[in-house]
Amino acid sequence: MAQNTLILGLQWGDEGKGKIVDALAENSEVVCRFQGGHNAGHTIKVDGEEKVLHLVPSGILHPSIDCVLGNGLVLSLRALSEEILELEKSGINFKDRFYISNDCCLILPTHIQIDKVRDKSEGIGTTGKGVGPAYEDKVARRAIRFGDLKDLSFLKPKLKILVEYHNKILMHLYDSDPVPFKDVEEELVEHQKLYDKFHTPTQELLSEWVQDNKKIIFEGAQGSMLDIDHGTYPYVTSSSTTAGGLLTGLGIGPKYIDSILGITKAYTTRVGEGPFPTELFDENAKQLAKIGHEFGATTGRPRRCGWLDLKALEKIMFVNSVTSLCVTKLDVLDRFKEIKICIDYDENQDPIYKTFIGWKTQISNIKTFTDLPKEAQEYILFIETYLRCPVDIISVGPSRDQTIYKS
Ligand code: IMP
Repeated sequence: MAQNTLILGLQWGDEGKGKIVDALAENSEVVCRFQGGHNAGHTIKVDGEEKVLHLVPSGILHPSIDCVLGNGLVLSLRALSEEILELEKSGINFKDRFYISNDCCLILPTHIQIDKVRDKSEGIGTTGKGVGPAYEDKVARRAIRFGDLKDLSFLKPKLKILVEYHNKILMHLYDSDPVPFKDVEEELVEHQKLYDKFHTPTQELLSEWVQDNKKIIFEGAQGSMLDIDHGTYPYVTSSSTTAGGLLTGLGIGPKYIDSILGITKAYTTRVGEGPFPTELFDENAKQLAKIGHEFGATTGRPRRCGWLDLKALEKIMFVNSVTSLCVTKLDVLDRFKEIKICIDYDENQDPIYKTFIGWKTQISNIKTFTDLPKEAQEYILFIETYLRCPVDIISVGPSRDQTIYKS
């Protein structure tokens, strides 16, 4: 593994990044998140037990790894507290290895309320976690930041003005109930101890670690096609989910990124609204959803399913400057007689497919590329050739050991 690796989803999220970060974390010392919030849901299976992480980096499951939440995240104190408590119950230790940037903007209860009522009319199909409204406040320079928790009495007047503003939006634009100020204030008071335990100038820490040659993984959340600039706008999330987001979301320069691993499922899924050229509505869609357990880890919503879209991946690989690929959930295709890959679009923007013969064999116990059925090897080799990028990792099941390292 290279010194510092950025791991990114290349589709609309849920590519299985959590499992791969967890697997690669074994050979690294630090895992950092740099964007998004608790809209993310990373499911990881360790020793037969499933863990779902929303905010905490997937490296936390390895006891000696340092984990960072960078300035680019938006942070719900309640959600983070609950997640930490749940993980601590299962024996995971956060002391002296979990760091939160003072510059993270907070998601307040009013942001969550605005997100929920607004999405009813706007129909983006958000996760309802307040992520969009929190980033709006960040860009408008009125957000409350994690470092502000240092002195709640100093913060109170600013918070009051912000909550009043949010409540005007709720009452006058959306005809909805306001959120009492004391509820918002109480949430901050109740969770101020998170500040005491974890606040850190993370950018400085990172610069020390880079100088000490520590091996660092940067863990993307959501997928590149949900990027605020390069995704399927307006059906996107509100952060920079592509490689550029890492640089601003942690405060690290591009020369410290040694490799960029792009993760794609062997097919495609999407939660929420928005374009999806290779979406299927037939028996194949039902099979992909059923075999792939395609339900959102955060909201439980069923995911829309379709074939792999290499034309779309090609564009997003350039945006991210991906240096190697990981294909996940290849085993989900085990029972298909025929499998398709979109290689272009016609004049109506409908997909043009290349059809592959299915391998019709269970592959979830296979450990090496050359032991895969010839049809599965051909499928992977076609992806490599089309995208002009090596597929270094193939995931054939949810557990750490169900991972094939091709090179
Ligand atoms: P938001 O991030 O909650 O504002 O939602 C905006 C869009 O991004 C919606 O279509 C969500 O379904 C999608 N989205 C946000 N987070 C994730 C994720 O972690 N996986 C998949 N889709 C996501």
